[in-house]
Amino acid sequence: MQIRFLGHAAFELSDGDTKVLIDPFLTGNPKAAVAAEDVEADAILLTHGHDDHFGDTESIARRTGAQLVAVVEIARELAAAGFENVHEPNMGGTVTFDWGWVRLVPAWHTSMTPKGTASVPTGLVVNMGGKTIYHLGDTALFSDMALPGKRDAIDVALVPIGGHYTMDRFDAVEACKLIGAKQVVPCHYNTFPLVDTDVQAFKADVEAAGAGEVVVLESGESHTP
Ligand code: NI
Ligand code: MN
Repeated sequence: MQIRFLGHAAFELSDGDTKVLIDPFLTGNPKAAVAAEDVEADAILLTHGHDDHFGDTESIARRTGAQLVAVVEIARELAAAGFENVHEPNMGGTVTFDWGWVRLVPAWHTSMTPKGTASVPTGLVVNMGGKTIYHLGDTALFSDMALPGKRDAIDVALVPIGGHYTMDRFDAVEACKLIGAKQVVPCHYNTFPLVDTDVQAFKADVEAAGAGEVVVLESGESHTP
């Protein structure tokens, strides 16, 4: 399977047949790799409702008919807006598809959709093509980041490092120690001045700590774990 960074916290996972988007914030994203009109999606997975994650979910889902997965409050907002292929798990729940599965796990943050629906924020553990990917969502450092990897070895962690709205690159090093992923792809940095950080310093610190191999992707670049 392949992981393509679309900018900020947006990723496309593909296994050759199926495309899964996570947090497709493209319109208004200064680092967007593609326009919202030009992506394909069989499923869209959301970590939380903030507009830099919820992004173009509705327009992409309307055009593609993608399955939608989000915590129950956000899922019900989408269902009320007329979307039919909506899955509404809550924390700890797993949704299974023919291409793999996704589980909602905790994140320490806040969450409200652009329409004002409040919920808890989540991380996402996604299994596709035999690989397990942990998208942390937006979060502060917390010790339970160690738990998803107890059940399923994490191949790649998608880790916010930009600070201000999430943990910064120093706390993100501690996060990588807890998660124990083989590889780490940093995200949620250098999109706006408030989240600027030194990604090469983060990479050096994580690798010096033996906390995984850091794969730095420019927006639009892909990685095959
Ligand atoms: Ni957020
Ligand atoms: Mn965010």
